[in-house]
Amino acid sequence: MGITSDFFGKTVDGRAVERYVLQNDNGTSVAVLTRGATIQSIVFADVDIALGFDSVAAYEAQDAYIGATIGRFANRIGNGQFSLNGAAYHLRANNGPNHLHGGEHGFHQKIWTATIEGEVLRLHCHSPHGEGGYPGNLDTEVSFCLHENDELEIQYFARSDQDTVINLTNHTYFNLNGHDSGSLRAHTLQIFADRFTENDANCLPTGRLLAVEGTPMDFRERHTILERIDDAYEQLRLAKGYDHNWVIDGMGMRRFAIAVGEETGIMLEVLSDQPSMQLYTANFLELAVLGKGGVSYPARSGVCFETQGFPDAPNKKQFPTALLAADKCYRRSTVMKLSKK
Ligand code: GAL
Repeated sequence: MGITSDFFGKTVDGRAVERYVLQNDNGTSVAVLTRGATIQSIVFADVDIALGFDSVAAYEAQDAYIGATIGRFANRIGNGQFSLNGAAYHLRANNGPNHLHGGEHGFHQKIWTATIEGEVLRLHCHSPHGEGGYPGNLDTEVSFCLHENDELEIQYFARSDQDTVINLTNHTYFNLNGHDSGSLRAHTLQIFADRFTENDANCLPTGRLLAVEGTPMDFRERHTILERIDDAYEQLRLAKGYDHNWVIDGMGMRRFAIAVGEETGIMLEVLSDQPSMQLYTANFLELAVLGKGGVSYPARSGVCFETQGFPDAPNKKQFPTALLAADKCYRRSTVMKLSKK
């Protein structure tokens, strides 16, 4: 049905942030901010299912990447180091010894440039060579399209003038019973994966793949998210809950996961052409600010479905490559499909 925009606020250093609202004929709407190419709300069947904030200042006061586009490299790079074509690169550690989500001044903080093309919102950002420690002048575009069948399609495009590494995702925290419901209770989940990447104590992949079989990581059949989250299973204990990368069966565009908020009956299907998905149950969420409408978002009040390349791929030869070769086009897409059970 269309895209409208309004002024959302100003950053602490005076830059304007716009909000674009995509709406379809079913009354479904998705609001996207130019700061961080951030999903600020997703309203489906009159329920806002995405955690978010009412002001730019609140976004600036948290480092939980709420709703943001993550780049240049989603998830962790071990010790903030990698080598490429014989050169060593050093990135800032911002998560224990590791580099997380592109560093503290990653894409989640950039003001992106918006253009509208029919039903598609395109957000562009430029990252100069050396920014955050990464090689290559990189141009990135993220597009958002809300289809009439309530699919939110997110596409990523990027190109660099030098070989570089890349891993882009979106970090929306969903609560399918409403962003203000305070807990992930009554959420059922299915993930189409036989294996996941084992974490070390800092949630960095060790390089080994573990079978989900016989563990609380097995979501091949539906389970509620909270059912086994506190089981005495080392991988869950280390991450204080789910914060792992599931290796999704198959290739190309395919179904990753299905989640249902049993209190609203809202169902989310996640589809993507990425190799894997970090499921993060907001174990470390601790905010100094209140969310939309003055509600608080405690730990485990939202769940992220971060479709992505494997974490730390630049240092793990056995993982699918994160290399973006000079002048080649990086393209990935993810679909978030909403319906009522
Ligand atoms: C996740 C990450 C978590 C946590 C979170 C942001 O993607 O795996 O460990 O850092 O982002 O708070």
